[in-house]
Amino acid sequence: MKEKDNPSWKIDTRCVHAGEGTDPQTKAVRRPIHMANSYELPTDVEELVKTLSWEHLDKFNYTREHNPTARHLEERLAELEGGEDCVVAASGMGAIAATLFALLNAGDHIVCSEICYTGTQKLVSAHLTRFGVDATMVDTSDLNDVKAAIRPNTKVVFVETPGNPIVVISDIAAIAKIAHSVGALLVVDSTWSGLVTQHPFSLGADLVIHSTTKYINGHGDALGGAVIGPKAVLAEIRERGIVHLGACISPFNAWLILRGSATLPIRMARHSENAQKVAEFLQAHPKVRSVRYPGLKSFPEHDLSARQMSAPSGMMTFNLKAELMEHFAFIEQLKLVTHAVSLGHDQSLIFYLPTVFFFSDMVVMNDAQKEKYTRLMGDGIFRFSVGIEDADDIIEDLDQALAGV
Ligand SMILES: Cc1ncc(COP(=O)(O)O)c(C=O)c1O
Repeated sequence: MKEKDNPSWKIDTRCVHAGEGTDPQTKAVRRPIHMANSYELPTDVEELVKTLSWEHLDKFNYTREHNPTARHLEERLAELEGGEDCVVAASGMGAIAATLFALLNAGDHIVCSEICYTGTQKLVSAHLTRFGVDATMVDTSDLNDVKAAIRPNTKVVFVETPGNPIVVISDIAAIAKIAHSVGALLVVDSTWSGLVTQHPFSLGADLVIHSTTKYINGHGDALGGAVIGPKAVLAEIRERGIVHLGACISPFNAWLILRGSATLPIRMARHSENAQKVAEFLQAHPKVRSVRYPGLKSFPEHDLSARQMSAPSGMMTFNLKAELMEHFAFIEQLKLVTHAVSLGHDQSLIFYLPTVFFFSDMVVMNDAQKEKYTRLMGDGIFRFSVGIEDADDIIEDLDQALAGV
């Protein structure tokens, strides 16, 4: 019988085998997709009670509670991230919302990275506050700001690192100590690390979140999210955040994400390698104003990222020595790189974010925060998700588009 897991296996082996095994019923070498929303129930009362409770994760009654294919993905992600258990959701935002709704009550306080995915930024600063949760958005790359924000009623410190969209790196180990000093849980959104380049549990995080839509799936075809951590906390998140809020994953999407995850370490190595070459090309180009990429020595948190991450991943930002509208002219010239939101796909994706649009529509920030980030962003930035194509082809495409600006 094929082994499903072996603690001595390295991450590349685990991405292929963790939680997989042979299907016990048919001996198929891959587990099937269970596209059913309901399951026949036992009539034995004791068994029925177990089946109807969502604590027995090997018994199924309704797919909003859990589903065999989704459970298969949960087993794999718990194993890969090194946590006790995992709960998957319909999207990254589904996982983040489920986690925060489960952990916070009116009167509690949350400290959150001010540079984080725009959905999280708005959820925390504009929506949780409607339910009596106090929120302080801070620059989590500055430990003094994190310390100053902490209160006796802080229950959650939420850190996104690397942070979307600007690429900001926060010190997970140091923030874990600050959070734990008041008994708060440290939740890390590790999406931009692609899981294999960063291990937040080994640095003291309590829960780790991924938008599996991005690197873990890697093929741009399914939405999903995951939260990984201790069993008891995840049981609360499953009940309060998934079963009762309803953002459960489709079994088909869970299966696509499982399929994508098998090649994650190979893809992440290629994303990092390509992004390093692209960042160096852009930095040396006379028409480029600035580049932010953790693999560059000029990046402000280069040393921290080298310590905290095994590779700098595939995300960067840059802008041109050009007027705002010329940035769109540059995008129009691109022939290989696609103008699209999202990131972590096999193909290279670029998105231009004008600073005025970022501040007016996407985030809630005070004047001091806006001033600080305007200094970093200028009129705007390209958020560039470097794909796994040949680096020379990506660079050639950028070069010809830059020549046309
Ligand atoms: C860091 C991060 N977290 C969460 C999300 C939200 O993920 P989803 O689009 O799957 O809801 C994103 C989306 O870009 C992201 O970049």
